[in-house]
Amino acid sequence: MNRGTGQQELTALVELAAEGDLGQVLAVEGEGGEIGGRGPFITSAIAEGRCLVARDDEAVAGFAIHDRSLFGQPFLALLRVRTVDRRRGIGTALVQGVMAATEGDRLFSSTNASNVAMRMLLGRLGFVASGFIENLDPDDPEMIYIKWLGDAAPKPVPAPVEAPD
Ligand SMILES: CC(C)(COP(=O)(O)OP(=O)(O)OC[C@H]1O[C@@H](n2cnc3c(N)ncnc32)[C@H](O)[C@@H]1OP(=O)(O)O)[C@@H](O)C(=O)NCCC(=O)NCCS
Repeated sequence: MNRGTGQQELTALVELAAEGDLGQVLAVEGEGGEIGGRGPFITSAIAEGRCLVARDDEAVAGFAIHDRSLFGQPFLALLRVRTVDRRRGIGTALVQGVMAATEGDRLFSSTNASNVAMRMLLGRLGFVASGFIENLDPDDPEMIYIKWLGDAAPKPVPAPVEAPD
């Protein structure tokens, strides 16, 4: 894919993570700071077939994890792209991979209000706002997004027509 804005051309392949990818996925996640409890979370996502990786040659350039941790609904829970590989369309390709893997008519995701990159990415893929949760991070609400899959989007309600006088 050529992004047309001078970025490196996207050559990454998105596929289900294998158990042998764990070390590289943890390394990508570790770029964001301490992994903490996300280590076991990532390990079980790979073992349960809920982790997609984007490979650039042999290297894992990014990953996405989905689960049903949001009220039992399909949920894009974690997405991260290696810093050096950002703005190449890899995050987009991973979310599209999760959309394709989702059974059902909707996929939710969430991110902090301050996360402009993620909010822009989701918006470009047709996710729309679906509420927010305050008091998780101080002064930085968790914004919930939904992507309706297939023809499932609720039909817009026509505006009431005023009766002529
Ligand atoms: C959010 C993230 C996954 C995006 O990955 P990416 O591979 O760079 O995303 P893409 O290249 O597919 O970008 C798609 C679009 O999103 C928007 N976008 C991405 N990064 C952006 C940024 N830093 N600022 C503004 N818009 C941005 C742009 O509209 C972009 O399209 P463009 O490059 O043609 O302008 C990446 O920045 C990341 O890993 N961030 C840290 C982890 C994180 O915040 N994860 C999300 C919450 S779990």
